[in-house]
Amino acid sequence: MSGQRKGYIAKVSGPVVIAKGISDIKMGEVVYVGNEGLLGEVVRVSQDSFAVQVYEDTSGLRPKEPVTATGKLLVAELGPGLMGRVFDGVQRPLKSIEELVGPFVKRGVKVNPLPRNVKWHFKPSVKVGDKVSSGDIIGVVQETPLIEHRVMVPIGVSGKVKEVVPEGDYTVEDPVVILESDGRVVELTMKQEWPVRQPRPYKERLPSEVPLLIGQRIIDTFFPIAKGGAGAIPGGFGTGKTVTLHKVSMYSDSQIVVYIGCGERGNEIAEMLKEFPVLVDPKSGRPIIERSIIIANTSNMPVSAREASIYMGVTIAEYYRDQGYDVTLIADSTSRWAEALREIAGRLGELPVERGYPAYLPDKIAEFYERGGRVKALGSPERSGSVTVLGAVSPPGGDYNEPVTIHTLRFVGTMWALDTDLAYRRHFPAINWLKSFSQYADIIERWWVKNVSPEFPKYRRRALRLLTVASEIEAIASVVGEGALPDDQRLILLTSEIIKEGFLRQTALSGEDVFCKPEKQYWLLKMMMDFFDKSYELIRKRVSIEEILRMPEIYEMMRVKEDERGLQAVKELYERVMAKLDEIAQRHGVTLAVEAEEVVA
Ligand SMILES: Nc1ncnc2c1ncn2[C@@H]1O[C@H](COP(=O)(O)OP(=O)(O)OP(=O)(O)O)[C@@H](O)[C@H]1O
Ligand SMILES: [Mg+2]
Repeated sequence: MSGQRKGYIAKVSGPVVIAKGISDIKMGEVVYVGNEGLLGEVVRVSQDSFAVQVYEDTSGLRPKEPVTATGKLLVAELGPGLMGRVFDGVQRPLKSIEELVGPFVKRGVKVNPLPRNVKWHFKPSVKVGDKVSSGDIIGVVQETPLIEHRVMVPIGVSGKVKEVVPEGDYTVEDPVVILESDGRVVELTMKQEWPVRQPRPYKERLPSEVPLLIGQRIIDTFFPIAKGGAGAIPGGFGTGKTVTLHKVSMYSDSQIVVYIGCGERGNEIAEMLKEFPVLVDPKSGRPIIERSIIIANTSNMPVSAREASIYMGVTIAEYYRDQGYDVTLIADSTSRWAEALREIAGRLGELPVERGYPAYLPDKIAEFYERGGRVKALGSPERSGSVTVLGAVSPPGGDYNEPVTIHTLRFVGTMWALDTDLAYRRHFPAINWLKSFSQYADIIERWWVKNVSPEFPKYRRRALRLLTVASEIEAIASVVGEGALPDDQRLILLTSEIIKEGFLRQTALSGEDVFCKPEKQYWLLKMMMDFFDKSYELIRKRVSIEEILRMPEIYEMMRVKEDERGLQAVKELYERVMAKLDEIAQRHGVTLAVEAEEVVA
């Protein structure tokens, strides 16, 4: 072909190739490398050469082999056909699970991300004569039984509708709307492209004030994440990062999940892929895969594609956000992604600053989390959507004092700190309640006040405070023995045990306790804190703690979360606990009035 810009390989260094011979090469340009035409992206341009990160295995590449420039940036192909599919980091569809675990041999093959032969039933929503511009919805397609795909005018395109196809079946390449735009004719199909390294534009950012409900009590009640927020889940080896993130993809109330399996073992992702089609969405009764997209870049796949996978995933998430959906983007694990960055930086001869990571590591981490948010989308009809970003962080040796964890914590609003000791004791989820934080908690409390109970903030704060005080008392108790503590301190310890066992601890596996509704979370906590208040009054009025410890309801409070009758069982137990304490009071001729607020207020 004439006009092709061709150069040649000068040097190969792992996933990075140094090439020469194309003087007008651009940063970020996609190139094809070597005789096989391996996909690569220009990551640095110098005076007489340029560096390419190659997204495929570079073994066997030799100097002097050709390099061809495309003039295009690395893009995501967007349109119907994404949902329910599995892609690698540069959006090549993976057809079978075997591709994940077997040796990754696919090289130089160009496969279209969206299938070209599938016909989608397109229902137009514009008519001849309408004026349309960036982001306007021109029609819809039922992409899966769970997701209606809203086909939008690509960013930067506008014009007057000249022709619209009738409702019917079309492929992603068939023109469905024809525009007249400044005297030119523009054909719109159901597919469009977007450069993955650029955030997609929106009309306006909206505050993140609604919780992403996960059904895990320690998260929803104590360390919530807002829809459109950013959260990190750091934890050492085997502490439960992946299990927790799977929970989020299965049970959270986001409409769409984009799951980036990034540098994890192939069999981990393969397992998940086997699980997803059989797992049923609790709200719709449909397979979860019908609202999920998986980007898989396992540890046996090329490291550059792992670097790109994060951007690919977030771009796809933004695209559905712009359609008006709440999307959760999960990256497991961002540490493996950062390692990919480090390796490429090393090959490029960048100066390492912290533990071998390049100086731009914090910027890259910030860029990733900042692509989360709740927005008003461009175009009409008016709609809002969100991308909630969640990243696992795997600090080596579980030591949080390392660059990826430190910088990540600067840019996220929530941290669920996994704890090796808790995991070792099989207290799951092993989220440490003293180290975790959520900056969304205050604003999300308003949602709880409105939707669950005006008393929620009070219970939440006091319970957290009680847990903190209890940890201090525990330290003393470990020296003097619990029996030597005054009764009020023993009551604090007892209540904190009830909260840990009956509230914080929650199975991820099966049964009633897998997903806990907000109202049930509230009633469990209310029961435990009201138990504390009443018991405290009794103790102040000289009733011995031993008498309270004898209540069989204490054990029940730790177990009622599993009762299949759900909320009703909690409310019934609540009544019984209160009646039992009143009975003790009566027996001792004590009147219960004031709350014990001052203790753990
Ligand atoms: N919420 C939970 N409920 C029950 N068991 C859990 C829970 N979380 C973790 N586990 C147990 O811990 C094991 C390890 O969890 P997981 O694979 O999620 O850890 P990880 O932090 O992702 O590990 P890695 O560092 O290897 O990626 C699980 O196989 C499971 O047995
Ligand atoms: Mg894991």
